[in-house]
Amino acid sequence: MSSKGDLQNWVGAALTAFSLATNLEALKSARIAHFGDKSPLAQASRSLGSLPAQERAAAGKIIGEAKEQVAAALTLRNHELELERDASTLLEEVVDVTLSAARSHRGGLHPLTILTNEISDFFMGQGYGIEEGPELESEWLNFDALNMPADHPARSMQDTFFVDPPQAHLVLRTHTSPVQIRTMLEKQPPIYVICPGRTFRADELDATHTPVFHQVEGLVVDRGISMAHLKGTLDLFAQKMFGGQAQTRLRPSFFPFTEPSAEVDVFFNGRWIEWGGCGMVNPKVLIAAGVDPMQYSGFAFGMGLERTLMVRHGITDMHDIVEGDIRFSRAFGIGL
Ligand code: DAH
Repeated sequence: MSSKGDLQNWVGAALTAFSLATNLEALKSARIAHFGDKSPLAQASRSLGSLPAQERAAAGKIIGEAKEQVAAALTLRNHELELERDASTLLEEVVDVTLSAARSHRGGLHPLTILTNEISDFFMGQGYGIEEGPELESEWLNFDALNMPADHPARSMQDTFFVDPPQAHLVLRTHTSPVQIRTMLEKQPPIYVICPGRTFRADELDATHTPVFHQVEGLVVDRGISMAHLKGTLDLFAQKMFGGQAQTRLRPSFFPFTEPSAEVDVFFNGRWIEWGGCGMVNPKVLIAAGVDPMQYSGFAFGMGLERTLMVRHGITDMHDIVEGDIRFSRAFGIGL
């Protein structure tokens, strides 16, 4: 049987071990060593049963008191260490909401794409459809069907990229006008469409030219369409592009695919600026595309998108539009 001195030593060792434990893990080890099943205290407790009956009560009382003392110390230390752990967790997991977040740059739409969407939205709102054609186009659709036969001077005015082999008669389309023909061949009037797209001409890139550029074509074919419809449509379009005050003016001109033809100017920032071409669809073109000119008439127009952007935003160098520098796109609000 253990002596009272032994008990005091065990209790003392247990209390010391508990107070030295600096975290809950260490406290757990100390508990197992000093208060677990194999600890001297537990063994002493178990050996009570083998004591003579008359000694058992007194010994039991002493051991019981020793165990209570150890248990109380354990509970207290456990509580302290839990509080410490909670406090340090709060500190470690603190989030500084005022720190600036790591920002990644998102891509965005090119100003030309934003403009194309803007124009498409506007015309869709007027009941128009959007048509697209291929960039690699047949010579016939790009020229002949638009009343520009091989020997026509207008054909050589457009510096065309011809594509090998020559007998395939393919070109990179020099304008979006072939989409007019494609649309009329495919659909019956009434036709109300715009055709935005990429176009190509053998020009050097400089401040005002680029070999790859964009146009938007408009085509209306219906009964009784007149130049008044054309003018009204252009005015609305101009106001959408350049603001409510914008006006248009038509100057007589020549395009093989329209008769009569006109240049469209827009009054913007106090002066008249050349914006595009337009006219009444030449009956020869209607016939080439299978539309009866005795029943239907139409108007058409075509504008450069780069030019529209440059005029509207005071851009003086085409390089800014073609180079794809994100700083340029950002100035337009990059759009999504
Ligand atoms: N296709 C012409 C060009 O690229 C632009 C144009 C002029 C289109 C008059 C038209 C039009 O539809 O009616 O220069």
